[in-house]
Amino acid sequence: MDLMHAIKNRRSIRRLKAEPVNNDLVDTVLEAGRWAPSWANTQCWRFVVVRDALMRGKVAETISPGNPATDAIRNAPVTIVVCGELGRSGYKKGAPTTDKGDWYMFDTALATQNMMLTAYSLGLGTVAIGSFDASKVAELLGVPSNVRVVLLLPLGYPVEEPTPPRRKELSEIVSYDRY
Ligand SMILES: Cc1cc2nc3c(=O)[nH]c(=O)nc-3n(C[C@H](O)[C@H](O)[C@H](O)COP(=O)(O)O)c2cc1C
Repeated sequence: MDLMHAIKNRRSIRRLKAEPVNNDLVDTVLEAGRWAPSWANTQCWRFVVVRDALMRGKVAETISPGNPATDAIRNAPVTIVVCGELGRSGYKKGAPTTDKGDWYMFDTALATQNMMLTAYSLGLGTVAIGSFDASKVAELLGVPSNVRVVLLLPLGYPVEEPTPPRRKELSEIVSYDRY
């Protein structure tokens, strides 16, 4: 699939089928995450693949009330929980090297975008879910204290084809030579 086509046509899919997703497809999505760029190739991301329906239900309960993506976790056969190990990305000899501190959010985002685009290219739907109680999910999944739960990524076959939300024009977001 043409990359620009995938970038423009991938949508957040909040209505996903319960239909199983083949392990090979899930592995291909994870493989795309694995090959993302990262700070000094530190690869701080960790992915927890949640298939168990009971656990998916518990994870869905951590999502903020009214979040439109809640059912995606309940319905989709797989949720990838994207985590980041702290103190690696942007760090040298145990200390942050820039004014941004820990870059784990950045690196996990790059891996997540790779996975979302790959899922789309395979005919699968995803939605990035950031609004949930990450510490509860960490507890449920036994995530160690040096690792943060960043994002929930349900993965399944799409039921809907949402219209693209408007993007700002380049003229609104790009400047040349000065801000
Ligand atoms: C970091 C991040 C967190 C998000 N969290 C949520 C969320 O909690 N619930 C939800 O329904 N959508 C969530 N989204 C999806 C955005 O609402 C969506 O990407 C945006 O509206 C653009 O729509 P599109 O993905 O279809 O292009 C999140 C997206 C990102 C990148």
